[in-house]
Parts: sequence; structure tokens; C-alpha cells
Amino acid sequence: MATQTKKLALVGSALALCLSTSAMAEGPTAKMLADTCAGCHGTNGNSVGPASPSIAAMDPIVFVDTMIAFQNGDTYSTIMGRIAKGYTEEELEQMGEFFHKQEYVPAEQEFDQAMVDEGAKLHDKYCEKCHIEGGKPVPDEEDYYILAGQWTPYLKYAMTDFQEDRRIMPKKMARKLDSMLEDKGEESLDALYAFYAAYTDFESSGAGDDDEDED
Ligand code: HEC
Ligand code: HEC
Repeated sequence: MATQTKKLALVGSALALCLSTSAMAEGPTAKMLADTCAGCHGTNGNSVGPASPSIAAMDPIVFVDTMIAFQNGDTYSTIMGRIAKGYTEEELEQMGEFFHKQEYVPAEQEFDQAMVDEGAKLHDKYCEKCHIEGGKPVPDEEDYYILAGQWTPYLKYAMTDFQEDRRIMPKKMARKLDSMLEDKGEESLDALYAFYAAYTDFESSGAGDDDEDED
């Protein structure tokens, strides 16, 4: 009898453990939170464009930092400031984990094929240092910002926000961008957009790595 009770108790606690882990699993809750973003950012964060960026596979720390910056007004936004205010930091962390795990689907859009190679060279020289692997998502790395496969109109808005000082550009990015525009002119940006839209396989020449400045 005693063993019987013990057994039952064991089954009971195993069951309780099961129930509590499934209730804690971030599956339903995180997905429910993320589903409220789908109208603009697409199913599982792959936007159907063109002004809302894809947020699938985003770096989870960058995600939370970006959302908090939207809340505080530290990062310029048209809409996200208001939306971000509706979530606690814990909910943002849950959503960040959820989006990080989603497969990234590059935007299907038109681009100028003739400019892609030039764009790859420019990217390598001026952008690869921080936007690694051609700006593709690299979910196993930390601290990455996706550009490849992102909607071109969104990238253009983001770039304009930086250039018109609505968004604060990281200092070294500003330096690289300035030197690119000085050496190669405004069309160099179009070549970069073509390269990001093409989402090609990319091999860095290492040119971005042997850079003087670190901070
Ligand atoms: C009404 C459309 C809309 C909805 C709904 C929406 N977003 Fe956004 N989101 C945008 C737009 C547009 C931007 C570009 C910034 C801006 O102008 O607000 C953006 C930008 C972002 C970014 C920055 C991406 C980057 O690459 O820098 C993140 C992160 C983000 N949204 C997360 C979310 C989350 C999480 C939700 C749901 C809780 C959500 N958004 C709901 C339209 C929307
Ligand atoms: C020194 C590192 C560095 C370099 C070099 C750099 N970037 Fe960035 N870039 C960043 C960081 C950090 C952010 C995120 C800034 C923020 O939080 O607002 C960013 C953000 C961006 C964004 C906005 C992305 C979004 O989803 O909102 C674009 C577009 C961009 N970079 C383009 C470029 C291009 C094009 C080049 C090359 C000419 C370049 N960057 C070079 C660090 C860099």
C-alpha cells in the first residue's frame, strides 16, 4: 500500500512537472504575442513589404534593445513607438526569442542585376565589418543587423532617417558611409541596395576585417 501511494505520488508529481513545463514553454504565449505583429511584419516576421521590415531571425538582443529604444523615443519611428509601449520587457524578451527562431525568407522584389557585383564589392569594403556575411542573418552569432533580403524601400527609409539625423547613425558607420559616398558617389547606394535585394552567396575578401579603428 505504501509503495502504491508512493508510486501515485510520483506519477502525480511527474504530471505536475509536465503540466508546468508545458504552461511555461514559450510556444503559445510568445506566438500569440508575435501574431499581433503579423499584419505588418508578415507571418512569423517575414514581411510582405515594402515599408515594414522583416523581423524574422533578428538578433534577440538587438530586437529587445530596438523595441525599448522605440518605447523611449530613442529611435525614430513612424508607428513603432506607440506599438512598442504596449509590452513589458519580459514580453519583449519572449517575442525576441520567438522571432530569432523563425526562418528568414528574403523579400521577393525586383532589382538591377547589373549592379549586384559592384554592390558586393562596396559592401565588402564599407559595410561587411559590422553587417557580416553580406548582411545576411547569422542566428548563431551575436550582435548582427540584417540587410540582405530586406525590403529595399525599407532600407531606403532607414538610410534617409540616418542621413537626415532622425536616427542616430553609429559613428563608424557614418564614417564608412561618408567615405563611400565621397569616393563613389550617390549611385553607390543603389548598387548596395541591388546587392542586398539579390541575396547572393557572398564571400568576403577580408577587406572589411583589417580595419584601423575599433571602439
Ligand atoms: C501597423 C504596422 C506595424 C505593426 C502592427 C507592427 N509594426 Fe513593427 N514596424 C513597422 C514599421 C513601419 C517599422 C519601421 C519603423 C517605423 O517607422 O515605425 C517597424 C519596425 C520594427 C522593428 C525594427 C526592425 C529593424 O530591422 O530595425 C521591430 C523590431 C518591430 N517593428 C517589431 C514589431 C513587433 C514585435 C510588433 C508586434 C508587437 C510590431 N512590430 C508591430 C510597422 C508595424
Ligand atoms: C561600425 C559598424 C557599422 C558599419 C561599418 C556599418 N554599419 Fe550599418 N548599422 C550598424 C549598427 C550598429 C546599426 C544599428 C543602428 C541602430 O540601432 O539604429 C546599423 C544599422 C544599419 C541600417 C538600418 C537597419 C535597420 O533594420 O533599421 C542600415 C540600412 C545600415 N546599417 C546600412 C549600412 C551600410 C549600407 C553600410 C556600409 C556603407 C553600413 N551600414 C556600415 C553598424 C554599422
